[in-house]
Amino acid sequence: MSRIIAISNPKGGVGKTTTTINLAASLAIAEKNVLIIDLDPSGAVSSGVGLQRENIRAGIFELFSGAVRLWDTIHPLNFLSIDLIPSNVYTTEQDTRLAEMAKNRIRLKRQLNGLVSVGKMNYDYVLIDTPPMLNDLTIGALLAADSVLVPLQCGYFALKALDRLMEIVERIKKSANPTLEMEGILLNFYEKGTRASLKSATLAWEIFDDLVFKTIIPKNAAVGYAAFQHKPLALVDITAPASKAYLALAEEIIRKTPEPAFLPPPENQVEVHFAV
Ligand SMILES: Nc1ncnc2c1ncn2[C@@H]1O[C@H](COP(=O)(O)OP(=O)(O)O)[C@@H](O)[C@H]1O
Ligand SMILES: [Mg+2]
Repeated sequence: MSRIIAISNPKGGVGKTTTTINLAASLAIAEKNVLIIDLDPSGAVSSGVGLQRENIRAGIFELFSGAVRLWDTIHPLNFLSIDLIPSNVYTTEQDTRLAEMAKNRIRLKRQLNGLVSVGKMNYDYVLIDTPPMLNDLTIGALLAADSVLVPLQCGYFALKALDRLMEIVERIKKSANPTLEMEGILLNFYEKGTRASLKSATLAWEIFDDLVFKTIIPKNAAVGYAAFQHKPLALVDITAPASKAYLALAEEIIRKTPEPAFLPPPENQVEVHFAV
């Protein structure tokens, strides 16, 4: 059983991509198998983990076109137990074509279901990085997801953008994906001792109450430095404040992930087999 988490906020620069990469790394450090889907055509995750264009066989473009089998789009990273379906959109024509194909909003969900049906969904977590807008790709991610994780930038709350996201999440819950949950609101760029950060956090707690993660990601220049090295921060400096925070976030998420449905232990299955 995988938990599929869409990382979403229609505002850019709030930490969606950073959270995708660093949460994936922290979950992998906690011995979870993780698949990242880089659903943002800008390809920030793919370049953020150092996957070069010449090493990408297939990616989200084929995921939508169905030109290859889904598992042929999966690339193991050369660190931790993380796989990636990269973004491989490089030209305006490809971008337009992808936008056209993404109008089939249920495509991603169908593809992931296909992976389950052939027994290749061996992931504890699937993290989907989404574009900084509420387009068909983002909605497709929300249709495929079990939950949505929303990073917020302390000090620069774009509540209007957030309202629109929440409205869409509610609409999707009432229609195509009734089990979609809020994984949580993640406060990012927190600057201890500043009024703007404290005010933002207080406002988030007032509005969203216990939907806000207990873990807060501090503003930490090391995040940018790690991105420059195309690695998650934990692999560059595990003692950096943001590394510790992302590890704590992984722990918080693991703790609240529902246990898989009960399956009889293998001995019982054998007994049943003999009884029949
Ligand atoms: N906690 C943080 N501390 C410092 N810089 C950060 C932090 N989180 C993100 N950043 C930086 O902010 C910029 C935007 O983050 P990014 O994850 O790309 O946002 P988004 O995907 O929402 O557009 C990047 O340059 C990233 O390195
Ligand atoms: Mg991004």
